[in-house]
Amino acid sequence: MHHFQYKEDELYCEDVPVRLIAEKIGTPCYIYSLATLSHHFMTFDSAFINVSHLTCYSVKANSNIAILKLFGSMGGGVDIVSGGELYRARKAGIPPERIVYSGVGKTVEEIDFALREKILMFNIESTQELKQINRRAEKTGTRPSVSLRVNPDIDPNTHPYISTGMKRNKFGISVDSALQAYEEAKDLKNIDIVGLDCHIGSQLTDVTPFVDALKRLRSLIDRLRQKGACIKYLDLGGGLGIVYDQESPPQPHEYARALLRELEDIDCTLIFEPGRVIVGNAGLLVTKVLYTKRTQAKNFIITDGAMNDLIRPSLYGSYHHIQPVVRSLKETEIVDVVGPICESGDFLARDRGLPMPESGDYLAVMSAGAYGFTMSSNYNSRPRAPEVLVKGGQFSVIRERETWEDLVRPEIIPDFL
Ligand code: LLP
Repeated sequence: MHHFQYKEDELYCEDVPVRLIAEKIGTPCYIYSLATLSHHFMTFDSAFINVSHLTCYSVKANSNIAILKLFGSMGGGVDIVSGGELYRARKAGIPPERIVYSGVGKTVEEIDFALREKILMFNIESTQELKQINRRAEKTGTRPSVSLRVNPDIDPNTHPYISTGMKRNKFGISVDSALQAYEEAKDLKNIDIVGLDCHIGSQLTDVTPFVDALKRLRSLIDRLRQKGACIKYLDLGGGLGIVYDQESPPQPHEYARALLRELEDIDCTLIFEPGRVIVGNAGLLVTKVLYTKRTQAKNFIITDGAMNDLIRPSLYGSYHHIQPVVRSLKETEIVDVVGPICESGDFLARDRGLPMPESGDYLAVMSAGAYGFTMSSNYNSRPRAPEVLVKGGQFSVIRERETWEDLVRPEIIPDFL
């Protein structure tokens, strides 16, 4: 469910024509629907209403502080993976007791920052990290709670770059080593092991891998408890997929039902780290057609949006639906939608059926709310796009377009030149 619909032939975000925003703010531009964001957050969170849980939205999917603030105001916490994300979360007013910190490579500075902020817990991914956190806790006179991130060795059947819970992936500790890690952790004086965590991958369209991973964690919890461990939290990560094209991922309530079946009498607070399922279909990227060009081999639509704005098609071969912002009766043709960047890998769509637009027309690249702006870059010295949040009939810029001056501001020409 989302609030991007045509009224007559105009695409609207809630009650605002997308064309109007494109004209006022310029293109390329990310547009998010507040009603969709809140609806998705609520739908996910309320699927677990009957059990003790905390929904920690995964900041990496879309880290704009206005969006973090919205989820915080709805009772959400966050999953962070860097000091920068912690900084954003705190700026957005997320209470520290609702912050969990994952990631294989936390630096000393980042660990110290999280210790100062007194976050809910660290999800640790190696025994070296465990000892590092223990050392930093001793140094700073703190006593953090820690969960062990387990790599359950489950194939999530998703793109290899975004599968994270298989033996060959860098993430977490194997089930067997987790028992060993727990023994080592018991002797560390400045940390408390309070839970288990896993995240097996992203854009999963079937519940089976989630359930399989959960079964492995559940039996590990039993074994740890036999050893006297006090496991209060079970963090099941994120990963629930969305519809980009023809997928049929489970709805949050189906996902919840499948998990809760395995979780009877678990006696843990559950933590979830959803990203994409909350924000993915709540945003689009609007871009303007600069030129069209027909060659012997292909028809090209050249837009002002490019791979630096939305890298998912180039990086993962991902499908994003593209539709005209104002519908016309033109015939559909097979086209490549490409950006101005000097690489053949710079495309938003390939061999797509679209009505051939005219120069100056706008196109909406759909399902761009997750891993869109957050993965954007300045490649080819292109300023990053602005972000706009729509609420009913009003809209507000929540991140300004970067300027050429912004691009060079941190750069320094040394005296010896
Ligand atoms: N928790 C952890 C520890 C994660 O690593 C991730 C995503 C999430 C939660 C949220 O997963 P989600 O619910 O969004 O699937 N850039 C890729 C996706 C990378 C996901 C990385 N980790 C893409 O554009 O598809």
